[in-house]
Amino acid sequence: MAELDRKDSHLALCLEEEVEFPGASGFAGLRFDHDALPELDRDEVDTGVELFGKRLAAPIVIASMTGGTPRAGELNRRLALAAEACGVGMALGSQRKMLEDPSTRATFAVRDAAPGIPLLFGNVGAVQLNYGVGAREVRALVEGAGCDAFYFHLNPLQEAIQPGGDTRFSGLLPKLREVVPQAGVPVLLKEVGSGISRTTAARIRDLPVAGVETSGVGGTSWSKVESLRTADPVQRGTGELFARWGVPTAESVAICREALPDRVVIASGGIRNGIEAAKALALGADAVSVALPLLRAADRSAEDALLALRQLVEELRTAMFVTGCRTVAELRLRPLARARDYTAEG
Ligand code: FNR
Repeated sequence: MAELDRKDSHLALCLEEEVEFPGASGFAGLRFDHDALPELDRDEVDTGVELFGKRLAAPIVIASMTGGTPRAGELNRRLALAAEACGVGMALGSQRKMLEDPSTRATFAVRDAAPGIPLLFGNVGAVQLNYGVGAREVRALVEGAGCDAFYFHLNPLQEAIQPGGDTRFSGLLPKLREVVPQAGVPVLLKEVGSGISRTTAARIRDLPVAGVETSGVGGTSWSKVESLRTADPVQRGTGELFARWGVPTAESVAICREALPDRVVIASGGIRNGIEAAKALALGADAVSVALPLLRAADRSAEDALLALRQLVEELRTAMFVTGCRTVAELRLRPLARARDYTAEG
């Protein structure tokens, strides 16, 4: 199937089908100590952070999703306007198409519509280093879209289920070691929904990367998406079996924080509201990243994308207020207890 069809069919499936596993992220099992005497005015709560030298109004990044087709370009434009208006970061979806067909550049050129996005991440699959992508191509992607940082995504499970997937994953560690320092911007490694485990984090520790994004279990499942896309019943069954495979997001954040103490950790995978964002930060994340709910909002309208993002920031602010945190730095030190079964969310 052509790349163009693949990207749009991913979008259609993510917009229309059940492709996520809320409840599996692990956040519901954690609880903050509510503070009824926070000794703090709500207006004093400052959600701002600095990430890669850029000031964000909140520790939030719109996750890597799309680009490469007219529909994807319009979604990117709406997401970019929301990111600019809220002063948060944004990531582009895989820019591989930009290398194969330079005419698709405009669908990734979100800074044309929203020059004020404070932090923009580029993206390509790490496995593409085994399929002809090298430092020159990565630099072209960074420069072509005006990126401040760059993600290599790690998606062995998705490629295994995807019809005709790129599954030659051997030899990537030495290639990453060579290419990462030549990208010209800070580089992060991200999963796409199966999480970064302790074993993977230990390998990443030896690479010259600036950070990781967890994308753990609980959010969009690419095994599930690809199982819905394939016509082969054996692949479909395999994709369904592995739909919840991997490390739950809450666990992956804690693992990455511990294993990579001096790197940036971005939490993602099933983060669906400001309470879960606050919990991810309290587990040690520097920022959180959200994909599917923002895509669905952007598909409705640019206004809905902005509303969804504003709501996330406001929920985070309220979580900080009722835990007595004036700053995100304070929130990151707040302990979390195991929730009892009878407690409500939060
Ligand atoms: C994604 N994701 C993704 N990740 C990546 O590194 N490169 C990509 O091109 C894409 N493409 C993509 C398309 C769509 C439609 C979605 C919904 C997601 C994965 C995304 O960045 C994130 O890691 C996961 O979706 C988990 O976050 P959520 O959806 O649970 O918030």
